Amino acid sequence: MQKFVIHGRRKLAGSLVVESAKNAVLPIIAASILTEEPIMIKNVPKIIDVVKMFEILEKMGGKVSFIDDDCVIDNSHITKFEIEPTLARFIRSSIFMLGPLVARFGRARVAYPGGCDIGSRPIDLHLQGLRELGVEIVEEHGFINCSVDKIKSGIIHLDFPSVGATENIMMASVLGEGKTTIMNCAKEPEIVDLANFINSIGGKVSGAGTSTIEVIGASKLSGGTYLPIPDRIITGTYLLSAAITGGRLELNNANYEHVYSLIKKLRGAGCKIKTDQNKITIECEGRLSSIASIETQPYPGFPTDLQAPLMALCSVSDGMSVITENLFETRFKHVPELLKMGANITIKDRMAIVRGVKALYGAQVNATDLRGGASLVLAGLAAHGETHVLNANYIDRGYFELENKLASVGADIIRSSS
Ligand code: UD1
Repeated sequence: MQKFVIHGRRKLAGSLVVESAKNAVLPIIAASILTEEPIMIKNVPKIIDVVKMFEILEKMGGKVSFIDDDCVIDNSHITKFEIEPTLARFIRSSIFMLGPLVARFGRARVAYPGGCDIGSRPIDLHLQGLRELGVEIVEEHGFINCSVDKIKSGIIHLDFPSVGATENIMMASVLGEGKTTIMNCAKEPEIVDLANFINSIGGKVSGAGTSTIEVIGASKLSGGTYLPIPDRIITGTYLLSAAITGGRLELNNANYEHVYSLIKKLRGAGCKIKTDQNKITIECEGRLSSIASIETQPYPGFPTDLQAPLMALCSVSDGMSVITENLFETRFKHVPELLKMGANITIKDRMAIVRGVKALYGAQVNATDLRGGASLVLAGLAAHGETHVLNANYIDRGYFELENKLASVGADIIRSSS
């Protein structure tokens, strides 16, 4: 098991470059199945979830190679339409491959997907949407078997704006017959990015970023090169690392619009933040004021993926914060760990009441999911003494060598095997 060992109370200072967004890269990798021509994705973070997606492609007959941080995918020789069950159970984004597989080959088989345990994460909206596109779905013994002659067009109305279901249905319709309209879809920037990628290789998707997306079926897609958007959750994590240490950071390759809900809260707490087209600068001094109320919402509301990292900051801010988690029901698993470090947090259903303390203290804590793990790293940066964050592998699912990035701007953090 790997862990991070952190000696806290170092002010961060310097500049960091944000990598491409995990949540954009994962569906784009799945969408590469839609074409038999080569795709180059630029600036790909070699995080565990991305590596596992490539393994899935390779097991099906795809070829993946890296040139520095750019990867080339050649799916011209896919001959298997089953997603390897152990890999499917490991990453939730394996489910993204259903749509592209049925669109191109008319069949797909996948085990129920895994991922971080942050509540029940059903895939009913994905399956319902595919059924409405004419896909026959048989669920048996933990597997989902899909078959279709040709994806048909139609109007699909999502009961909830699920990010993954929007992406899956969008990808499934790209090679369909006629026009598909997806209503009440999610508006996350990663959905816009997926649509831009698909359009860059000859697809016809419009309306991404609004609640209605239209897809006009194309007979064939080409190859191409694509640079995904910067990771807004990493951007937010870096902003919070400056805020919690009273530091000053310049973030390059950062899109401020994508993290505006966080920037607004941080400014209210006393951080000075300047935004530029591709750059964000943050400067903080001393103990910040508390952020009174935070509610996670679908984009452009406050992202659920930044709830846990923000809670670390609230736990040392001056005053009380009420944090409501609306998207995932068990996404407070970092709370007992923050308590071990001296935080004062009470949970009531989906609400966490955080009373800021003057100081946190180093402890041995467990990362139990990706963003909860990031929250503990942030707490460790602010804490007196030594913090050991166990199960660093969870954090590696979304942050590539986080310890090196933070150490490069002055944090005292190392990775260690225990
Ligand atoms: C994506 C992100 C994840 C983020 C989440 C919410 C990726 C790879 N992951 O996850 O980082 O936390 O969006 O912004 O992009 N739901 C259903 N039925 C479904 C699908 C979802 O009930 O078929 C529910 C979920 O249980 C959850 C809510 O909808 O309560 C949101 O889930 P969804 O938007 O689908 O998130 P993911 O795509 O899994």
